[in-house]
Amino acid sequence: MQLFTGHKIIKDESGCVAVLYLDKQLNEFALEFLEKSREEKQQFEKNILNYIKKNIPNVKVNKINIMLGSILITSLTFSSVYTPSSLEIDKEGIQLPNNPSISQPKEDIDKDQIPVSNGPSVSQPTENINSGSNLKQGTYIIKPEDTLFKISKLYNITVQQLKDANGLIDNIIYTGQTLIIPNQENSNLENINNVVLNPSDILVMVNKKNSLPSNYIPENLVVPNIPFPFKEFHSKKLMRQDAALALEKLFNKAKQDEINLYATSGYRSYDRQKSIFESNAKKYGIEKANQFSAKPGESEHQTGLAMDVTSPSVNYHLTQRFGETKEGIWLKQNAAQFGFIIRYPKGKEDITGYKYEPWHLRYVGKETAQKITNQNITLEEYFGVE
Ligand code: DAL
Ligand code: ZN
Repeated sequence: MQLFTGHKIIKDESGCVAVLYLDKQLNEFALEFLEKSREEKQQFEKNILNYIKKNIPNVKVNKINIMLGSILITSLTFSSVYTPSSLEIDKEGIQLPNNPSISQPKEDIDKDQIPVSNGPSVSQPTENINSGSNLKQGTYIIKPEDTLFKISKLYNITVQQLKDANGLIDNIIYTGQTLIIPNQENSNLENINNVVLNPSDILVMVNKKNSLPSNYIPENLVVPNIPFPFKEFHSKKLMRQDAALALEKLFNKAKQDEINLYATSGYRSYDRQKSIFESNAKKYGIEKANQFSAKPGESEHQTGLAMDVTSPSVNYHLTQRFGETKEGIWLKQNAAQFGFIIRYPKGKEDITGYKYEPWHLRYVGKETAQKITNQNITLEEYFGVE
C-alpha cells in the first residue's frame, strides 16, 4: 500500500521542514492512527524515514511530528539537503488530502435536558476585514491586524488550507505579504469535521469542526470539592483532576469574596451528550438545538475540562441572565487567574458556533487563559493568531 502521495520541503530559519502527504482521507487516517499500538506507531515512523531516505536523500531527520492532515517532519538540517532545487515546493506528485468525510451523527430522540435561556440571542455582525482591491481572487495582501483566522474566514477556507497553500509552518504573517488563496471550490466549511488526535491535551480544540473520538473517556476523572445543587453522585459532577483542582481554587476565592457559586454540569460521556442533544433537537429542531447544544463528540464536556457554573440568584439555571449577576460578573473577571476561560462569549457566536454561555467554563491552564482573556478572544482565534 502506498502511504504517501508526495511531499514538499519548506525553508525556515533553523533549517527546513518536510511535509508528507497521505494517501488517505484525513479522517480515515486519524481514526486508524488512534487505534494503532505503540509498535505500529513506531513502524509508521519507520515508513516516514524510509520515504525520506528514498525521496529526499541526504537529510538528517531531527524530529517527527504527526499532525492531522499531513505528516510533518521538522528540523531537517538545512545544509544537508541534497540539491538546491529540492528546497522549492515540490508540486509534482502532491495530492493534497481531501476534506474529511465524517458523517454527522444521526439525530434521534432521547431524554435528559439542559435548562437553557429563552433570552434573546446575541448575534455578531460579520466583521468586514477587507475592502475592494485587496479582495482579488487568488491572492491576498496582508494588512495590519490581519490574522490567518480572519483571512480564512473571509474566503471560507480553513487556516490549514491557507497554510498549506502558502507553505506556512506556523501562524506568523507580515503586513504586505502576499498570500495565495486556495481554490474555494474545494472548501466546504460546513462539512468539515476532523477527529482530533490530541483528545487529552488540555489545549484540545473541540467544536463543530473538531470532534472527539466517540470512545474517548478522559483519565483521572474526580469529583471536585465544590458545591453542587444536588447531593447524590452523578457523572456530571466529574472533571479531570487538573481542572478539578483549579476549579476548587476558583470556588474558594469566590467564597472569600462572598460570591455564591454552584457547579451544575461537568463531564459528559459521548452517549450522554448524544441523549442530551437528541432531546434538545426533539424540542427545538436540530439547527436551533445546535446553537446551544453540541452534537455528540463535539462537546467540550466530553473532555472533562469543562464545567457549567451558576448561582442561586438565577435559581441554578443556565441562563444568559447569569452573566449580569454579580456572580457571573465575578466569574468573568476571575476565571482566567485560575486557568479557565468563558468559552462561548457574547459577540463571538459566529466564531464559536454557539450562543453566549456565561456559565460554561473551560480549563486551558493559567497562561493560556490569561492570554485569551486579556486579548478578548476565543480559543478558535487563539489558535488562529498564535
Ligand atoms: N452547551 C455546549 C455548547 C455543549 O453542549 O457542549
Ligand atoms: Zn457547558
